Amino acid sequence: MRFSFADQVSQVAQPLVLPVRGAIDLTRALRRLSNDVARVVQASAIAQRFEGEAASIAEALVADGAEVRRILLVGLGTGPLDTNGLMEKAGGAVAVKLLTSGVTAISVDFTGLEGVGLDQAAARFAYGARLRSWRHDVYRTKLPKSQKPTLSDIEIVGARGAADAWTTLSAIADGVEFTRTLVTEPANVIYPESFVARCERLATLGVEIEILGEDEMRAAGMGALLGVSQGSARPPRLLVMRWNGLDSATERKPVVFVGKGVTFDTGGISIKPAAGMEDMKWDMGGAGAVAGTMLALASRKAKAHVVGICGLVENMPSGTAQRPGDVVVSMSGQTVEVINTDAEGRLVLCDAMTWVQRKYKPEVMIDLATLTGAIIISLGHEYAGLFSNNDELAEQLLAAGKASGNPLWRMPMGEAYDKQIDSPIADMKNVGGREGGSITAAQFLQRFVDEGVRWAHLDIAGTVWTAKPGPTWEKGASGYGVALLNQLVADHFEG
Ligand code: BES
Ligand code: MN
Ligand code: ZN
Repeated sequence: MRFSFADQVSQVAQPLVLPVRGAIDLTRALRRLSNDVARVVQASAIAQRFEGEAASIAEALVADGAEVRRILLVGLGTGPLDTNGLMEKAGGAVAVKLLTSGVTAISVDFTGLEGVGLDQAAARFAYGARLRSWRHDVYRTKLPKSQKPTLSDIEIVGARGAADAWTTLSAIADGVEFTRTLVTEPANVIYPESFVARCERLATLGVEIEILGEDEMRAAGMGALLGVSQGSARPPRLLVMRWNGLDSATERKPVVFVGKGVTFDTGGISIKPAAGMEDMKWDMGGAGAVAGTMLALASRKAKAHVVGICGLVENMPSGTAQRPGDVVVSMSGQTVEVINTDAEGRLVLCDAMTWVQRKYKPEVMIDLATLTGAIIISLGHEYAGLFSNNDELAEQLLAAGKASGNPLWRMPMGEAYDKQIDSPIADMKNVGGREGGSITAAQFLQRFVDEGVRWAHLDIAGTVWTAKPGPTWEKGASGYGVALLNQLVADHFEG
């Protein structure tokens, strides 16, 4: 999708979209049209019971000489334009309405809408349109013409400064789309080595990339991560991406993001049931979000120092796979009794966390992981679970979640939960009971957080993939986490 910004509609014949704030604005929008056209548009609005509610649409086909011209009204409600998600929703609604309609280019005319933040609002409209239009059609060789996207150009008119705001938002959209692609690709296409290969493009944006292979990880003592990987024919990778956008005079410890990148999770010897197992291709959603965030930050040249690290493995059952009851030695030196080989995410994360803390001594570390089915039982698909050892960081994340449209809900932690993962043979076991399964998983991770590090764990198992389309996403990979982490960096770690 291409976006352009103009003071006036450049192609008078092309479909026109008029954003309308409640019913009051309708008259004003209509005044910009010729009388005949305005009458048809108004009658069409009435016929479609259009009252300007947020993201509602009325469509009119009006005579334009021998041609017809499409004019759409899109509602913005009556509240302030900077209401969270409002403009994105409106943009998304227009985009999905026209995506496969045969229309190739539209003008969205904001002239006449006024108020502070119109530029930002218009750019957010474009952002919503772009996110809602993303699809992954690479493997559809027989898609009928009528189902193929046609809309390719969106012109934003009458919001002079929107182009500036767009530079930032299009960088975030680049990141979201990158994440969605990584998450959507099947596990025969995305595995540890190919995940790394796809991330190499970040180097051209100035991201420093470091890759650890199996031998390096063995030398570092990552017995927990390697235990998961040992059943797979695909070799593991630890991918480290560093973006330092601070000027050379400023030195600051990086904010660290850690992603669970299990490119396929069969469960290992504690194998999962067949039904729905295909979903486990997206068990690398945390790593995908970290990679997408790094892309967004580098694309918009964020004035921040950020390190993203992805633990990439495939969890397979085989003659070389680890067994329930095995005891592994993590890089931290702590030993883990592997009760259930399907609780593999925490085994991957713990070594990635230790490695990155030793190397970068971060003050803030946030991990993202499709860690537990239990978080879906707790929160459904509306919120990701937030666990943290620090109230201030938790508040910052909750606020960033609201502002970015990637909402979080804080979950409790505590000693009583922690006790549940004590093991009779090792320092800990990798599962607690069935009850509070997301919390005991978080307690496990917390045992690998160094003294003084502000840490948060985001369990995104319920939010990386959606069964239904939403205001700014098609069904499938959501790209959850990219806008959230970008927002957090922009609000607290930049400048
Ligand atoms: N990747 C899964 C978590 C998951 C399950 C994500 C369903 C999305 C949908 C994770 O590795 C896992 O298998 N967790 C187990 C933990 C259990 C063995 C303690 C789970 O949630 O069942
Ligand atoms: Mn698992
Ligand atoms: Zn998993």
